[in-house]
Amino acid sequence: MTRRYHITTFGCQMNKADSERMAGILDELGMVWTDEPLEADLVLYNTCTIRDNAEQKVYSYLGKQAKRKQSNPHLTLVVAGCVAQQEGESLLRRVPELDLVMGPQHANRLGDLLEQVLDGAQVVATEPVHIFEDITKPRRDSQITAWVNVIYGCNERCTYCVVPSVRGVEQSRTPEAIRAEIEQLGQQGFKEVTLLGQNIDAYGRDLPGTTPAGRHLHTLTDLLYFVHDVPGIERIRFATSHPRYFTERLIVACNELPKVCEHFHIPFQSGNNEVLKAMSRGYTQEKYRRIIDKIRHYMPDAAISADAIVGFPGETEAQFEQTLRLVEDIGFDQLNTAAYSPRPNTPAALWENQLDEATKSDRLQRLNHLVAIKAAERSQRYAGRIEDVLIEDINPKNPQQVMGRTRTNRLTFCEGDISQLKGQTVQVRITEARAFSLTGQVDVPALV
Ligand code: SAH
Ligand code: SF4
Ligand code: F3S
Repeated sequence: MTRRYHITTFGCQMNKADSERMAGILDELGMVWTDEPLEADLVLYNTCTIRDNAEQKVYSYLGKQAKRKQSNPHLTLVVAGCVAQQEGESLLRRVPELDLVMGPQHANRLGDLLEQVLDGAQVVATEPVHIFEDITKPRRDSQITAWVNVIYGCNERCTYCVVPSVRGVEQSRTPEAIRAEIEQLGQQGFKEVTLLGQNIDAYGRDLPGTTPAGRHLHTLTDLLYFVHDVPGIERIRFATSHPRYFTERLIVACNELPKVCEHFHIPFQSGNNEVLKAMSRGYTQEKYRRIIDKIRHYMPDAAISADAIVGFPGETEAQFEQTLRLVEDIGFDQLNTAAYSPRPNTPAALWENQLDEATKSDRLQRLNHLVAIKAAERSQRYAGRIEDVLIEDINPKNPQQVMGRTRTNRLTFCEGDISQLKGQTVQVRITEARAFSLTGQVDVPALV
């Protein structure tokens, strides 16, 4: 009988991309996808540990599956991703029903690891490895937009962050391998790619080669020029940018290259320089503002999104207010906010100046309130405008509507037939602008 598998994915875009590759491997093994985790013969949780609540979610899901396994010994249970890397062996002690615990660097090895499981072993794969070029065909969620990893891991040491300890050191893919993947996507009918890295500005610094002036031969900017003309691909995005390494050369390239979309995701984390220093972020709030000014100098309409943390150890009310001020001044199109959560193996978790939960959640609420107001203000600029929208799918909440994104990454709904519009870029006249999404009508040019 055909075995059915289910993957639940938590966390960031890297995890989503890893899940698509792991699903591709399972397809190749002859298994079939099911949406229903309680009916699957293999259940894989691709986990996130960026904050404590992300980690705890996994344990409650796992509890249910462990119980199911007691009456269904043929069930295969896999924990992949960042909790797997962080906990390793100790996950097996906590949930003895697990068959496989595998860190993110091992995603492409899922097939081999499952073979060991079939031999009856309980397997833990968390040792650091060189990530091999992916030879599988990912099972992509979308037929229009695709993730393309360009650099794995992170060499930064932000004092709050688990990512370097769970994702390992930076490993860039070669420009040729990246281009080959994008060319294949173009041939398959994909229209948009998002280049992925935790710190994408670090792309290429681990690859050999420098220019006569001593600059790395392979930077993100060079990569954009290198992949820009791939046939079929109409839009190129990239994330996540780090203010420490963000260059004017990159801004110029984005402005010059028509396929690169006018949206920048550049987390600032805090609007206060002492807090930024304690976080080891390597820039000041003034430098951050200069980057945004530069972007807007070249591309006045560019969308800016970011991440911010409130309640970092030692953060005073006045320091927090500087974060509010930055948000007020910049006017982000979107901001992901979080209360600081102490994480294992990170320096800040050990400091004594932790803030209490009430202060953190009060600051989070105040920041979120401001973000909603500012995003609604920013959104108003779309009202009445005509935007190029790449149609991706039907609106799951209203099948009469299709949905897509503007170049600036605003989710946009309009009436239309998905069988005709999927993968098309249409001009949409925006009739309603909400804080984080738009509604409009496909603009049919008047016949003359
Ligand atoms: N590489 C990206 C961010 C990766 S993690 C960067 O450098 O900005 C995604 C976001 O989670 C971070 O930007 C940060 O805002 C948040 N985050 C990371 N660690 C956190 C922690 N310990 N507590 C709260 N938020 C955290
Ligand atoms: Fe974490 Fe900092 Fe690396 Fe981003 S740059 S993943 S916040 S350590
Ligand atoms: Fe989470 Fe790992 Fe991404 S901790 S945010 S899934 S890198």
